[in-house]
Parts: sequence; C-alpha cells; structure tokens
Amino acid sequence: MFFLARKPRIHNDEIELREAVPSDARGIIEVAGAVGREKIYNVSEGFGYSEAEERNLIARAVRSRDLVLVAEEGGRIVGFLTLMRYFGGRSPKVQHVGEIGINILDGYRNKGLGYKMMDYAIDWARNKGYIKLCLSVFSTNERAASLYKKCGFMEEGRRRAQFKIDDEYADEIDMGLFL
Ligand SMILES: CC(C)(COP(=O)(O)OP(=O)(O)OC[C@H]1O[C@@H](n2cnc3c(N)ncnc32)[C@H](O)[C@@H]1OP(=O)(O)O)[C@@H](O)C(=O)NCCC(=O)NCCS
Repeated sequence: MFFLARKPRIHNDEIELREAVPSDARGIIEVAGAVGREKIYNVSEGFGYSEAEERNLIARAVRSRDLVLVAEEGGRIVGFLTLMRYFGGRSPKVQHVGEIGINILDGYRNKGLGYKMMDYAIDWARNKGYIKLCLSVFSTNERAASLYKKCGFMEEGRRRAQFKIDDEYADEIDMGLFL
C-alpha cells in the first residue's frame, strides 16, 4: 500500500508503487502498447522491445543507477515510469542527467497517480546523486506538461512542429529539473 500525505484526493489507494522486477516485462509492454496505440502522446506508436529485451532492460536497471517504477492494481500493471541515464549512460558526459518517461493506462489518469510516480522518481534520483532530470513532451499534451510544471520542471527549449499527429503539428518541448 502506498500513501502520500501531500495529495490525498485520489481514489487509487489500492494502487501500489514499486520498483519493477524482470517478471513485470509483459505488463509494462501491455501498458506501453495501449498508450502507443492511442498515437497522441508518444513518438513511438508500438513498443520497441520484445518481452525478453524488456526483461533485460529491467534487470540492467536494477543493477545500475536506473529506475523502472510500476504502478500496480490487483496484480495488473496500470502505469510505469522509466528514469534512465541520458543517452543510455553511454558517455561520461551524461552521468549526472536522468531522462524520464511515464505512461499510465486510460482510466487511471487525472487521479493523481502521475504525480505520485513523479514524486517517487524525483526523490529516488536525488538519493542516487543525479544532478538533473530531463524529459520531452508534445505541446498538445497539456495534461503531461502541466504535471511536469507542477513537479518543478521548466521549459528549456522547443522544436517547432517537430511532430505531426494526424493533421495537427505539435512542438517538442524539452523540460528540465535541477535537483
Ligand atoms: C501524463 C500522465 C503521466 C499524467 O499522469 P496523471 O495521473 O494523469 O496526472 P495527475 O492526475 O497526477 O496530474 C495531472 C494534472 O494535470 C491537470 N490537467 C489535466 N488535464 C489538463 C489539461 N488539459 N490542461 C492542463 N492541465 C490539465 C490536472 O488537473 C492535474 O493537475 P492538479 O493535480 O493540479 O489538478 C498520464 O495522464 C498519462 O500517462 N497520459 C498518457 C501518456 C502520456 O501522456 N505520457 C507522457 C508523455 S510526455
């Protein structure tokens, strides 16, 4: 059970936040696939990893300074957040920066769950010694941008009309949070 004193308005007391284990791979892929199929939130419209690859990714995150956080209700994963070192951590230049991605199933949104997950990840990153978190969001995704601002992220740059979603162009907004 996960309790958050700061934001008790939600109906998701039964939703547990916990760090992922490799057997969560299938649940994570299902959430990523469902959100991808909505087509309006993420660049990718499918999920790029097989279950085996996702298992490896989780196992690697557990071993290193990365986080895969899942939100689980009654044994079903309803959301996940990844916090990975920027550029896959493949350079000494990026070891201080973590990049966040978050996806929650339709039906579980707008109830404060995203805030709880971000709050967890920000605390986690501080404790692990990260200096900065970054992410990017479509300008059309006002709910996500509003959540990130509420968590302290600030806009750092914008690529105009970087994406076309159906007939609408969206800017890519880069956001950052110094910890
Ligand atoms: C984005 C996402 C992670 C946010 O999580 P969530 O649980 O829905 O968010 P929360 O309920 O914690 O907070 C949302 C906030 O945005 C506000 N909000 C909702 N719709 C909004 C809109 N159209 N414009 C501005 N603010 C909006 C809510 O009021 C709430 O703020 P409040 O707590 O001050 O009232 C989740 O909705 C999601 O997974 N969406 C689909 C995938 C996605 O967009 N991923 C991120 C890609 S960058």
